[in-house]
Amino acid sequence: MRYRIPFFLLLASILIVSCTDLATMRTSQPIAPVRDYEILLVGNLEANYIGDENCLTSCHTHDKIATDFKPSVHGDQISEDTGLPLVNCESCHGPGSQAVEHAAEKKTCDFKTLLPIAEFPAQAQSMLCLKCHSAASTPNLFSWNSSVHALNDVSCFDCHKLHKGVEQKVGRQEQEELCTGCHTQTKMEFSQFSHHPVPEHKMACTDCHDPHSSTNRKNLKGVTSKALCTRCHMEYQGPFVYEHADVTEECTNCHRPHGSPNEPLLEVSQPFLCMQCHAGHQGRELASLSSPTMKQAFYTRCTDCHSAIHGTDIPSAHGRGTFIVR
Ligand code: HEC
Ligand code: HEC
Ligand code: HEC
Ligand code: HEC
Ligand code: HEC
Ligand code: HEC
Ligand code: HEC
Ligand code: HEC
Ligand code: HEC
Repeated sequence: MRYRIPFFLLLASILIVSCTDLATMRTSQPIAPVRDYEILLVGNLEANYIGDENCLTSCHTHDKIATDFKPSVHGDQISEDTGLPLVNCESCHGPGSQAVEHAAEKKTCDFKTLLPIAEFPAQAQSMLCLKCHSAASTPNLFSWNSSVHALNDVSCFDCHKLHKGVEQKVGRQEQEELCTGCHTQTKMEFSQFSHHPVPEHKMACTDCHDPHSSTNRKNLKGVTSKALCTRCHMEYQGPFVYEHADVTEECTNCHRPHGSPNEPLLEVSQPFLCMQCHAGHQGRELASLSSPTMKQAFYTRCTDCHSAIHGTDIPSAHGRGTFIVR
């Protein structure tokens, strides 16, 4: 009787330990179980590495993958000392001896003995790539683990489809479809009347965002929106003799970056854009007229006169200041 409860607990704990499988590991945990992932990546300890030739000749199903892989950046990595490939199928898919053991009789390989990388939790998937792509070899990945994508369970091969063809990078042409596949709100923004020509493939998401990580907010390629935007729109960089106060320090005070119903990419249309901060006004010439209706006539396209809205070096003809009219 004395042992009943402890025995029951013992049994329970054995059950819990054996249940620590992929499914439980995939559920979010406060600290990434890095060691568990490392063990996952080692794979099947019973199997041996046999090299690409043995893998591929036993099982011709992957001939297209193999012909694409050979001239790719990964397939092209050959050791200077041994002349052997540095990256081969087994670098990512794990040792293959068991997969080909009965290939001759069965006429197919036993793929289940390879690493089930598609089933891995996202962090383990990325670790598969990061074992070679350390910050030292790929500086752009220096803070991958703290990036918004890593923290939201996006893995390297959610974006890098390594067997789609020879290209291992995500091409500029592919980005719009790839990125907006997850970012549907952004897709909607780019479909608006006024937009940066990303859907037309003249620009790519990575012109403005770093896909991996960045020390700037929203993974932007600039500390402020001004620093980002003036990489291309240099004429608005300034400094100008007559600035529009410090309003243009953030272009996003007035513009939307992706798309907008208001030309040109304006947050709000005129005159309401300006009237968020200014009272509108009538012209002197109008005010001097006697007709009461004309007196109340009110400007709607403020930049017809205040055309140097982004700042200028030219003083106003009116004498005092600039009023950013030219
Ligand atoms: C740099 C890592 C890497 C290398 C090297 C590599 N693969 Fe893959 N392979 C992947 C990833 C990542 C996937 C996608 C897993 C997923 O999401 O389903 C994959 C998927 C596959 C699939 C599943 C079908 C498919 O297209 O998604 C096959 C088959 C395959 N690889 C065969 C090979 C063969 C054969 C080689 C050697 C010529 C090879 N791989 C080399 C990373 C690699
Ligand atoms: C066995 C080591 C190894 C593994 C594992 C590995 N890579 Fe690579 N990868 C390399 C080497 C070496 C290069 C070429 C040198 C470089 O660009 O750093 C490379 C280059 C690349 C490039 C650059 C292609 C280009 O055109 O510049 C991409 C993208 C890439 N790898 C993605 C991945 C992804 C995604 C994974 C995980 C599925 C992965 N790699 C796993 C070794 C590896
Ligand atoms: C959100 C999508 C996305 C994810 C996730 C992602 N990449 Fe990339 N990666 C890209 C894009 C897009 C490029 C091309 C960048 C360019 O052309 O400026 C790229 C380029 C690269 C390159 C080429 C060198 C460079 O830095 O430009 C390597 C290597 C690479 N990625 C490896 C990885 C690895 C390893 C992971 C996981 C730790 C990863 N990537 C995760 C989208 C992604
Ligand atoms: C597999 C889905 C997926 C893909 C593909 C993807 N993302 Fe993301 N991305 C996410 C998730 C999830 C988040 C975090 C939640 C959010 O902010 O929507 C995120 C966040 C971001 C953020 C930061 C938002 C913030 O609030 O800080 C940017 C910028 C971004 N992604 C750009 C890109 C770009 C550029 C690409 C293509 C190169 C891309 N994403 C591809 C899923 C994806
Ligand atoms: C012209 C530069 C530019 C291009 C091109 C661009 N973005 Fe952005 N993106 C921005 C800026 C700037 C912000 C920050 C907006 C803010 O919050 O101030 C942003 C914000 C985001 C966010 C965070 C959510 C939000 O709307 O604030 C996501 C996600 C995102 N972009 C995804 C994408 C994707 C996907 C693409 C390609 C289809 C893309 N971006 C192309 C400049 C750009
Ligand atoms: C990588 C270069 C690049 C960056 C960075 C960039 N733009 Fe642009 N911008 C363009 C191109 C290209 C066009 C289209 C010009 C055309 O269609 O003639 C454009 C057009 C515009 C237009 C005019 C749109 C119209 O409908 O006429 C505005 C406004 C604009 N950008 C504002 C911004 C702002 C604000 C930012 C920063 C968030 C920014 N741009 C960042 C390249 C860039
Ligand atoms: C105070 C609001 C405001 C701010 C801040 C602002 N803009 Fe504008 N921008 C406008 C207005 C209004 C127009 C339209 C002018 C017109 O239609 O006459 C415009 C037009 C543009 C155009 C298209 C016209 C052209 O010259 O081709 C670009 C590009 C542009 N802005 C870039 C920027 C950049 C880059 C920044 C940040 C340095 C910025 N804007 C900050 C209000 C603003
Ligand atoms: C986010 C707020 C904000 C928006 C939006 C804004 N402005 Fe301004 N504007 C300011 C501030 C702040 C000043 C400086 C006021 C001062 O010095 O008294 C200023 C100054 C001005 C001046 C006087 C310049 C001078 O030389 O004294 C004019 C003219 C002007 N803005 C026109 C516009 C027009 C036109 C728009 C719309 C296209 C606009 N502003 C949008 C904040 C804004
Ligand atoms: C017909 C041309 C014209 C239009 C349209 C116009 N303005 Fe002006 N604005 C001027 C002139 C000229 C001045 C200089 C006033 C003066 O000399 O007394 C001025 C001055 C200003 C000032 C500075 C006032 C001060 O005393 O410091 C602001 C702010 C301003 N305008 C905002 C706006 C806004 C907002 C709109 C749109 C609702 C607008 N303007 C439309 C011509 C115009």
